[in-house]
Amino acid sequence: MSLCMSFILILSLLAFAPLCFSYKSFGGYLYPQFYDHSCPKAQEIIKSVVAQAVAKETRMAASLLRLHFHDCFVKGCDGSILLDSSGTIISEKRSNPNRNSARGFEVIDEIKSALEKECPETVSCADILAIAARDSTVLTGGPSWEVPLGRRDSESASLSGSNNNIPAPNNTFQTILTKFMLQGLDIVDLVALSGSHTIGDSRCTSFRQRLYNQSGNGQPDYSLDQSYAAQLRTNCPKSGGDQNLFFLDNVSPTKFDNYYFKNLLIFKGLLNSDEVLFTKNEESMELVKAYAENNDLFFNQFAISMIKMGNISPLTGLKGVIRKNCRRVNGIIKQ
Ligand code: HEM
Ligand SMILES: *[C@@H]1O[C@H](CO)[C@@H](O)[C@H](O)[C@H]1NC(C)=O
Ligand SMILES: *[C@@H]1O[C@H](CO)[C@@H](O)[C@H](O)[C@H]1NC(C)=O
Repeated sequence: MSLCMSFILILSLLAFAPLCFSYKSFGGYLYPQFYDHSCPKAQEIIKSVVAQAVAKETRMAASLLRLHFHDCFVKGCDGSILLDSSGTIISEKRSNPNRNSARGFEVIDEIKSALEKECPETVSCADILAIAARDSTVLTGGPSWEVPLGRRDSESASLSGSNNNIPAPNNTFQTILTKFMLQGLDIVDLVALSGSHTIGDSRCTSFRQRLYNQSGNGQPDYSLDQSYAAQLRTNCPKSGGDQNLFFLDNVSPTKFDNYYFKNLLIFKGLLNSDEVLFTKNEESMELVKAYAENNDLFFNQFAISMIKMGNISPLTGLKGVIRKNCRRVNGIIKQ
């Protein structure tokens, strides 16, 4: 074979290489078997650390589920929420939705260090969050699903993204729906994923407005059951007690079930953003009723919508990195 021929052969191999590699490894999509060869024990390790943490404190399941949501709504599911401030990074942990509220970071650290021992620089922090969210759902009695994997980690955070993209509890129905739609999620995803509030807690400060001065006229929110409101006021005073905790689902606060939706039907949703799903839009009201009536319907849709949320702009292939420590970008020593 002449030198010229081999040169052409090599050239054409190079030309077609991207086609071969684009299947899975560089394709930019996620799939559940991603770590099957590179870190076969990854899922088992994550599950066991999450199970221990939840056994120690049931609320941790809720906190871990929420971390994945707050990660995905800011620059995609890229582990950005886990970065501490350092150098040019301003941590998302100090945003309005996260400050004094987001928790579970130590559990993620523990998972990450166990994974670094088992298979160094292989499993991303973003994937840890996605698997921990699923495991937390299952551990509290919710549905299971196979988590598509292969996300990589960002090397930056966005404080403004965290403040602006994550819905606030006193946003209007339309604002909340718009924030979901900007992420490629729809009204069905919004209602199903809000069902996460079947577990976990809220601070007084997140719903106080409803108890005392809902629309600036000194009146409470009358779409909140008034005897429930009176009960809430005893621990959530007009001023002070900001950090006092309340169950998001007052009927079965630690069990992942459809009581969240049943509560909305009787005006016992804790957050304004919960109750508006039933009171402010015909289509979401029908969904709330359907999920309140049929737990399987809720569980099925929840799993589908979680996978959809987990697919928000992941970094794949050659984009992003695998962080060694979820709190910092590789190579930067914590100050
Ligand atoms: C629809 C818009 C949403 C709003 C406005 C919202 C708002 C909130 C607020 C204000 C809290 C209480 C925070 C505190 O006071 O410390 C909370 C807690 C929580 N949220 Fe949401 N959320 C929304 C959607 C979601 C979604 C999509 C998920 C998960 C997929 C989720 C999961 C949770 C969980 C599990 C908790 C309890 C966390 C804990 O106990 O540590 N939320 N949410
Ligand atoms: C929502 O709550 C924030 C923080 O408590 C407050 O600054 C803002 O005025 C409230 N927005 C509305 C529309 O009530
Ligand atoms: C209710 O809020 C409005 C503005 O948001 C304020 O002007 C008013 O004084 C408040 N009323 C009470 C009774 O706190």
